[in-house]
Amino acid sequence: NGTDINIAFPLLDHYNNPRNVGSMDKKDLDVGTGLVGAPACGDVMKLQIRVDRDTNTISDVKFKTFGCGSAIASSSYLTELVRGMTLEDAGRIKNTEIAKELCLPPVKLHCSMLAEDAIKSAIKDYQSKSNRPAPTLGANL
Ligand code: FES
Ligand code: FES
Repeated sequence: NGTDINIAFPLLDHYNNPRNVGSMDKKDLDVGTGLVGAPACGDVMKLQIRVDRDTNTISDVKFKTFGCGSAIASSSYLTELVRGMTLEDAGRIKNTEIAKELCLPPVKLHCSMLAEDAIKSAIKDYQSKSNRPAPTLGANL
């Protein structure tokens, strides 16, 4: 009937036109990588953030999700949400916010949990890298 259901349903919009799909170099010290799996179904999500060291904010974000439509939509929505956020704020995102925005049914709640786990894990990875002491010249690492 000509109605664009994508506009009415952010879930379908993010599923059909996922934002920020891609990868970054996980060895880059300014990049944090989160790779998480959902025990309930075996789906996997990789989320990467690039952090601006001076402001401690997320300047870029990419994801790849091998999983169901709700997991793809959750990660796509998350990438738009966290861009420009401080690490502190991004680490406080709850999967229920994602599920609410996308109107996920209860049986799909764990798909949004994957996105929460992924951003937390990416932040942790970035922090573990940035705390790493600079390599000493000549050190045999
Ligand atoms: Fe089938 Fe997640 S359970 S795609
Ligand atoms: Fe498992 Fe969606 S069904 S992440």
